[in-house]
Amino acid sequence: MVGVEAASRDPGARAARTDAPVLATVTFTVNGERRTLELDTRTSLLDAAREHLHLTGSKKGCDHGQCGACTMIVDGRRINACLTLAIMHQGAEIVTVEGLGQPDHLHPMQAAFVKHDGYQCGYCTPGQICSGVAVLEEIRAGIPSHVTADLGAPPQVTETEIRERMSGNLCRCGAYSNIVEAITEVAGSRA
Ligand code: FES
Ligand code: FES
Repeated sequence: MVGVEAASRDPGARAARTDAPVLATVTFTVNGERRTLELDTRTSLLDAAREHLHLTGSKKGCDHGQCGACTMIVDGRRINACLTLAIMHQGAEIVTVEGLGQPDHLHPMQAAFVKHDGYQCGYCTPGQICSGVAVLEEIRAGIPSHVTADLGAPPQVTETEIRERMSGNLCRCGAYSNIVEAITEVAGSRA
């Protein structure tokens, strides 16, 4: 109590106490590797990956959930990593574009993007690829979308379904047609 009163009389001490970041420890698996970080509790999952794990494949386009450039796959579901705090994912399995494939061993979705020129500047591409992988899993799992006509039947991999499900991933270069071609090819090869 005495300490609180002293701090309230000393603005400097009060500011220092208030400004100190609150740290927390979080452990999760990133691209198959168990990682433990001590983070400011306000750190987004995107910043944790980019700035603390140096996994810069996931991009920061808007930092508020508008563009999809930061898309990662967390426990099998795609999310905007800029909109979620890293410490909320204790024990999670996180996959970024770096975990899908490597330059000498591309994931089929990465290879299809190359084959179909599914990018121009490439800034949105890691998010597009993570989203594309997750979209096919969502369709395979029978999860309907806004454009699924028959909710009683399994959704099909149609261009309309792909465009709707990928609508959260923006591309300033307008590579949309080629992105759809790439995802369609991967869907066909897995059918
Ligand atoms: S950076 Fe996350 S949605 Fe744009
Ligand atoms: S390839 Fe440039 S923003 Fe999509």
